[in-house]
Amino acid sequence: MTLTNEPTQYRTITVSPIAGALGAEIAGVDLAHDLDDATMAEIRAAWLAHLVVFFRDQTLDDAGFLAFAKRIGTPVEYPFVRGSAEYPEIISITKLPHERSNFGGIWHSDTTYLDQPPMATMLIAREVPPTGGDTMWANQYAAFDSLSPKLQGVLEGLRGVASSALADVSKTREDRIRDAGEPDAGRVYEASHPVVRTHPETGRRALYINIAHTARFEGMTEDESRPLLQYLFQQQIKPELTCRFRWEVGSLALWDNRCAQHNPINDYHGHKRVMNRITLQGDTPA
Ligand code: SIN
Repeated sequence: MTLTNEPTQYRTITVSPIAGALGAEIAGVDLAHDLDDATMAEIRAAWLAHLVVFFRDQTLDDAGFLAFAKRIGTPVEYPFVRGSAEYPEIISITKLPHERSNFGGIWHSDTTYLDQPPMATMLIAREVPPTGGDTMWANQYAAFDSLSPKLQGVLEGLRGVASSALADVSKTREDRIRDAGEPDAGRVYEASHPVVRTHPETGRRALYINIAHTARFEGMTEDESRPLLQYLFQQQIKPELTCRFRWEVGSLALWDNRCAQHNPINDYHGHKRVMNRITLQGDTPA
């Protein structure tokens, strides 16, 4: 599908792209009410086409948030931080006014150090700072397409080893682990994935490495891997591959971790930001 910046009227929803590369706001749907299968099919089609979709002014409580998530996939628990007592699949992504670090504050795709990383993540905004606290996403189909055919061919023969223990990202979890860490929050997870994965629903190829978790290429040392990884980490987040979303209370985002990365911007020290998050079971990247 070719993306344009014109709103597209589906049967029940209106889809308005927010940037050239990815991201669209969906209007015309109240997620707190029962959604029929036709509306869910339109939401899924828009999500697959735009990689990340946003719904504003949603009144979902946690039960409703989980119910909507279950219409998209299977919610799973996050390995490091406990979910809520009532809904263990929902974790609170909070930054308090005195904290300096924001959870996940680096470009990444979620938990790629697992053998089956989540296909999707959903975030609903409960409290937002007066300014700042936006999140950015980057299109990894376009990142792959932007490379020369020769380099694409090289990458198609490589696998990347992802680790949960890289310092730049693990330090962003520390405040939340202090509050609500799982008993084995010190465990290190590692997984090997193809550097270029084929999306199981769209059939498109996407670059599947990220600076937060990918430590090296399989069969190579970190020193050997670093020059090419550093080049790719820069290429995959070029401004023209990104979109940026301004949150309001009640905004809900649904993104596809199989073909998009995200980066929450840490520019609101002294203010509180509270989001609730659900991740959805993924398959083994291939
Ligand atoms: C995350 O990485 O899941 C957090 C995203 C955000 O806080 O915007």
